Amino acid sequence: VRRAAVGAKVVAVVGDAGEVVARGYDAVAETHLAWLGRIEGDPRLAYLDDLLSRLAPPARILDLGCGAGVPNTKRLADEHDVLGVDISPRQIELARTAVPRAEFLCEDIGTFDPGRRRYDAVTAFYSISHLPRATHAALFGRIASWLVPGGLFLASLGATGCPDTIERWLGVPMFFSSFGADSNRRLLRDAGLELLRDDVVTMREPGGPATFLWVLATRPS
Ligand SMILES: C[S@@+](CC[C@H](N)C(=O)[O-])C[C@H]1O[C@@H](n2cnc3c(N)ncnc32)[C@H](O)[C@@H]1O
Repeated sequence: VRRAAVGAKVVAVVGDAGEVVARGYDAVAETHLAWLGRIEGDPRLAYLDDLLSRLAPPARILDLGCGAGVPNTKRLADEHDVLGVDISPRQIELARTAVPRAEFLCEDIGTFDPGRRRYDAVTAFYSISHLPRATHAALFGRIASWLVPGGLFLASLGATGCPDTIERWLGVPMFFSSFGADSNRRLLRDAGLELLRDDVVTMREPGGPATFLWVLATRPS
């Protein structure tokens, strides 16, 4: 049992963030896909294209919190070897159907262990803000260790900071947690990553504006 804020109230929550997230995305996988299509000004494809322009095919790419596999995992898998990891069984089921040429695992990225595999790139689109922020520093360190020297990490991270919170989102309880932009920049550098791009970008979600820190970082050679 742990405690988290729900809206303005702090309540006891049975289970962990991963259970809340997996249950939530299992329930809203299709709704979430339709919701994604209503976002205006999502910069994800521009950052994805920047990443792709820096990779020689076939690169090995790990997509953390891959969701239903579209559009990101699919685009990455057009020319590269991609492993997508997601904690929601329903998301993984949709991703396997949408991107048959990629490999997928249903696992918690907080504990995922790639063994001896090393990657030319690791991506995490809108996923790390679903893990407790006490775990982010360690996760960035693990990601850095999974990259080959010169490997790239592309992620959208929190920009304003939000302590562990469970909110009603798309009709289900959902766990969110993030640091602000400057803390994220510092944590990434502390993990041994060099920032190539770190931009705060606002897009328009159906419920209003949403701001993220977009980072493209490299493990120095
Ligand atoms: C907002 S969706 C983004 C999906 C996809 N990356 C995209 O940009 O469309 C967040 C995804 O991260 C996954 N996720 C959240 N926490 C996770 C965790 N601890 N381990 C693995 N996947 C997680 C969720 O199940 C969900 O599919």
